[in-house]
Amino acid sequence: MDDLLKLIKERQSTRVPFNASKPIPKRDLKKVLEAARWAPTAHNMQNFDIVVVDDKKILADIHKIKYPTSITFVRENYKQLSFSVEELRKRKTGVLGTMFPPAWRNPNVTEKDITDNDAHNSHDQLMETPVLLLVVYDPNRRAPASEGDFLGIMSLGCMMQNMWLMAESLGLGFHVVSSLSNYEVEKELKKMLNIPAHLMIAISFRLGYPVKPFKYLRVRRDVEDFAHYNGY
Ligand SMILES: Cc1cc2nc3c(=O)[nH]c(=O)nc-3n(C[C@H](O)[C@H](O)[C@H](O)COP(=O)(O)O)c2cc1C
Repeated sequence: MDDLLKLIKERQSTRVPFNASKPIPKRDLKKVLEAARWAPTAHNMQNFDIVVVDDKKILADIHKIKYPTSITFVRENYKQLSFSVEELRKRKTGVLGTMFPPAWRNPNVTEKDITDNDAHNSHDQLMETPVLLLVVYDPNRRAPASEGDFLGIMSLGCMMQNMWLMAESLGLGFHVVSSLSNYEVEKELKKMLNIPAHLMIAISFRLGYPVKPFKYLRVRRDVEDFAHYNGY
């Protein structure tokens, strides 16, 4: 079981270029999909489908879809940024500011700053990946009496983590791309990939082999910071 904890700790967001011409062996891709298959879901509703995109032309078309960044995102994101390694280690949550464009590291960021940045904003990394997985959520496959389908959303988290851990165990990089669920982007994608109207693109992942080995500083709160025994 120590091995499982090691795998859980080593799983990471691999936000780097993948070798687009190094395909993922079919048996490994199948294992990632099997891991999704066996995920727990509320009431065993299995409320998802997965669209696997490995066609270079389709990836290039997805890359061309424009996605405007919301000022709300940038402002709220700012509050979670650390501006040095020491600060991040101390805060134990959030991410380093250097992960984002300079315009986003300004507390007084304006709509114009964001639009100017968006001018050269694209899903560039979609050209640096052999496979993109889109998790399609079916709100009709809802567990009984789950208000707002809270349990259904948690179920998607379980399947995502299963896939992520399987990818890690196979030496595959895994990068979550939530911007493909942006309303405008999602609309285009659904058209392009013939996804039925009542389904939603909940989350997407790039999967592949990093061009160079990649590790970065990852922090967490300590167990004592969040575990409460016999009462909060
Ligand atoms: C639901 C969800 C959405 C996420 N969306 C993104 C995203 O759009 N882009 C990104 O680079 N990382 C995304 N992440 C990754 C988190 O930022 C990352 O898991 C967190 O910073 C911890 O880093 P680690 O994965 O390396 O441990 C997402 C993670 C989750 C669970």
